[in-house]
Amino acid sequence: MDQTKKTQLQKVAMMVNRQSNQDQSGHDFGHIRRVVLNAQLLLEKEKKADAFLVLLASYLHDSYDEKLVKDVDLAKSQVRKDLVEQVDLTNEQVTAVFDIIDHVSFQHSLNSEDQLPLNTQIVQDADRLDAIGSIGIARAFRYGVTHGNVDYDEQIPPRQADEITPENYHDPQPILNHFSEKLFKLENLMNTKTAKKLAKGRTKIMHDFVDEYIAEYRGER
Ligand code: ADP
Ligand code: NI
Repeated sequence: MDQTKKTQLQKVAMMVNRQSNQDQSGHDFGHIRRVVLNAQLLLEKEKKADAFLVLLASYLHDSYDEKLVKDVDLAKSQVRKDLVEQVDLTNEQVTAVFDIIDHVSFQHSLNSEDQLPLNTQIVQDADRLDAIGSIGIARAFRYGVTHGNVDYDEQIPPRQADEITPENYHDPQPILNHFSEKLFKLENLMNTKTAKKLAKGRTKIMHDFVDEYIAEYRGER
């Protein structure tokens, strides 16, 4: 990657850092930084991808998320303005980055079977990898505590896939239910080979954690 692009990426990193470090919902700059690291790891094997666009989208993937901003269109046009005026990206580059971001979220893929373009596949894998493993456990608890959810409730079983809709997806649930409802499923949804391999190890860690939690809860060990 040429020096101009590296400098542009640094500017974007600083821009996103300024905007995301107040976040309490699991989308702080720590998350962004790890998604970028995951994407870099995947890019080592995916030589056909456009590394510049993938890394830009990794940095910016939460910058106008409907969960995080009041007005998505307004946030989107503000981000575009910043990228054009402060980072010197072309409008075409911004459009390509937004196109990646618009297709990465879990909810979008709930009702779409379409094969995503490689750049999008990588950002989606990088984002999903940060939801699983030890980091995934920590993030689930941070999310659950912030939303006032209990750790575990024997009386409330996890919902089956056909009971979960985009509308009820964010309803309050015991934190441990989130593992069966979403986190254990991500391994199979990974697009790239490298992400599948990483997801396998991370998923085992979560299974061990949940099994151990329930055994301790029941006083079995
Ligand atoms: P994203 O689209 O980035 O996954 P979410 O808001 O769904 O955004 O998730 C942010 C983090 O919070 C993720 O690590 C996710 O696993 C966790 N999370 C989301 N919903 C729940 C929930 N109901 N219980 C526990 N953790 C959750
Ligand atoms: Ni994310």
